[in-house]
Formats: sequence, structure tokens, C-alpha cells
Amino acid sequence: MSLQNKKILLVIGGGIAAYKSLELIRRLRERGSAVTAVLTQGGAEFVTALSVAALTGEKVHTHLFDLTTEAEIGHIALSRAADLVVVAPATADLMAKMANGHANDLASTMLLATDKRVLIAPAMNVRMWQHPATQRNIAQLKADGVIFIGPNDGDMACGEYGPGRMAEPLEIVAAITQALAAPAGPLAGTRALVTAGPTYEPIDPVRFIANRSSGKQGYAIAAALAAAGAHTTLVSGPTELSPPPGAKLVRVETARQMLAACEAALPADIAVCTAAVADWRPEIAANSKLKKKGDGPAPALHLTENPDILATLSRHAKNRPQLVIGFAAETDDLIANAKAKLVRKGCDWIVANDVSANTGVMGGDNNTVHLITAKATEDWPAMSKADVATRLAQRIAETFSQDLGNQAV
Ligand code: C5P
Repeated sequence: MSLQNKKILLVIGGGIAAYKSLELIRRLRERGSAVTAVLTQGGAEFVTALSVAALTGEKVHTHLFDLTTEAEIGHIALSRAADLVVVAPATADLMAKMANGHANDLASTMLLATDKRVLIAPAMNVRMWQHPATQRNIAQLKADGVIFIGPNDGDMACGEYGPGRMAEPLEIVAAITQALAAPAGPLAGTRALVTAGPTYEPIDPVRFIANRSSGKQGYAIAAALAAAGAHTTLVSGPTELSPPPGAKLVRVETARQMLAACEAALPADIAVCTAAVADWRPEIAANSKLKKKGDGPAPALHLTENPDILATLSRHAKNRPQLVIGFAAETDDLIANAKAKLVRKGCDWIVANDVSANTGVMGGDNNTVHLITAKATEDWPAMSKADVATRLAQRIAETFSQDLGNQAV
């Protein structure tokens, strides 16, 4: 992968490591990349707009409301024109803004408006890096698909030692090269939506109804689709799992929240519904904890049906994904039930798996599945959930590389 003719939008944050960003610009330019720079107010305390402009050979963007620039390019266009957005140094403050969606200066607004991948090279004092607030922001940014390079361990300008030093320019160049190479998978340019995990339907503030689901299969599928280059959103009910690399994770609790998050993620080309959505929810969730009344009757729960997310996506009037895939976890008559489900839900494929107690599928790492399409049933051998995910992503990619005009099945 060469960096020739690549367009890098470089955000220079306010930290002493900003001087290394000047070097980074030189290294990128000598590899044939064009670098457009956004200098934050803090960044301008460490390096001058003049030095940055001299090295990039372009005007440096500094203000959100710059009348001429806004008329000529605008921050939206600025955020979209690049192949990759790089933030170096990424300060604790910039990371906090990014993690929380702030948009109160040019850099943060541009970072919120971009549809491109974002790579950040954090640089800060070791205690700031280790602070729980920064660690929360790091987890959120990783869940949002932001790529990290560094920070490295070492002596800091402030005299302390530990993680917090910005990665060296050549390390950042290597990370940029890798990030630009990554999306070129077979599903590059497609958008995928995956649901996973259980939903929790509240009875009262401390109790809920849920299905058993570890979320492992869905997380593995989201990771496999992202690795194949799909722009992937994973909508997940409560699980213990860490965010899958490369996918955007949206956490929800209830079925209705899951449906709303799926709607918000549309349009998508591919939808894979692995979530074990609770079929019913208590019609009324009590605002305070229901009390056990010694000898009185047990409370009766009045249940109402939850939306069927798979069926809703399959029959979506405006934004039906081209390929909608459901899962059928059954304990009896697996194939017959799964085929009936394919028709009932209106989806294109069903992945059927036997979840009888003796199979160990529930919560386990392995799965034996059958892929059912309108035309055929494929029996896959027993394999890990990660391998099921990779194979499913490959089958999806094959389908997408064929003519999609006549339904992807
Ligand atoms: O109806 P059943 O739960 O057996 O169907 C399983 C499939 O339907 C799975 O793909 C599951 O994610 C999806 N589903 C859904 N919304 C529901 C119930 C099931 O998306 N409310």
C-alpha cells in the first residue's frame, strides 16, 4: 500500500508533541500524500500556522467560522474530502470532545461531521492518560471505530515517566498506511447492521425479563463484516463482551431501543439479526420496586408483544437492506422451523442452530449451523463462532460480488 496521492486531513491538537506533527507532515509529503491541516487553538500555542502552512503547502484551517473558507470549502466538505482523518497529537480534551460528540470548534465539528475513518495519536501526561475519565473516553472511541496509535511509554516533557508520549512520526506513518489498506476488503463500500445479545425488559427498576444470550455469535459476525471492509454498526443488548474491532457499537437495553437504534443505522446493505430479543415485555414497568407482601398474592405480570426487529427490517418500506439475515435458535425440528421462520419474517437467509441443552451452544464458543436460503440448505460442520462469522461474511461477500439486481439470494 502506497501513500501516493492519498489525502490526509491532519488535526494538530494542543500539546508539546505538536512539534512532531511537523515532522509527520514532512514524512507524509515525501511519500506523495497531500496533507491538509486543522490547527486547534491549543495547537497554535505550540506550533505556528505559518510553519504548518509552509510544510503542507496549503492554507491552514484554524477557525470554525472563517467566512471565506466557509464559503469556499466549509467544515463539512473539509471533513469529507480526505481519505483518512488523523489527529496528532490527540489531547485528553480533544478525545473527550470526540467521545462525547462535542462540536464547539473547527476540529471537533469536523471530527463529528466526518464520514471517514479517524486515526488518533494520543499524547498527554501519564496521570491524565490513566485517569478513569480518559479511560472511559478511550473505550468509547474504540467502540466508535476510532483507530489508535500509541501512546508510547517513556520520559515525558513534564518530567514523569509512563504511557503518554505521542507515537513517533514514522510509527504514525505506518499506522496510516495500515489504516488506508484495511478497508479494501471484499465488502468495502457496503454498510452492515448487526443485532446481538439479549434485551432487558424492565418489570420494575431492579427486575427484568430477558432471554439467554451471550452475544458471542453476533459480536463475531460484526467483527468479521468489519474486517471484510463493511462499515459495520453493532446494536447490542447488555453483554459482558468487549467491542468488536472496527465496528461501531451502539448499546441498548430494551427491544424498542434496539429497533430505534437499528432504524437510526439505516440505510444499510446487509442486516444480520442475531439478537435474542425478548418476545414480550411487561406492559407497564413499575417506577418503584415491587414489594413482596408476606401472605398476599404474587404480582401478575401483564405482557405485551415486542416489535419484531428482523421482520421490521425485512419488510421495511423505505430502507430494506438488500440482504437480511435472521437466526433461528431451535430445540426441535430445526430445519422445518427455520424454513417456516424465513417465510414468516420475510428475510433472505436464516442461520439455524440447535440450542438444545446438550449442544453447549448457549454461551459456548462453538456452533453447528445450517444456512437456509430460499433455494437451498447448507449444512456447515461444527466450528467456532468466530469461524461461523468469517464463513458467513465470506458468503455475504460472494453474494455482493454477484449481480445484486435480482435479490441477493
Ligand atoms: O421469532 P424468533 O425469536 O425465533 O426469531 C429469531 C430471529 O428473529 C433472530 O434473527 C432474532 O434476532 C430475530 N428477532 C428479532 N426481533 C424479535 C424477535 C426475534 O429481530 N422481537
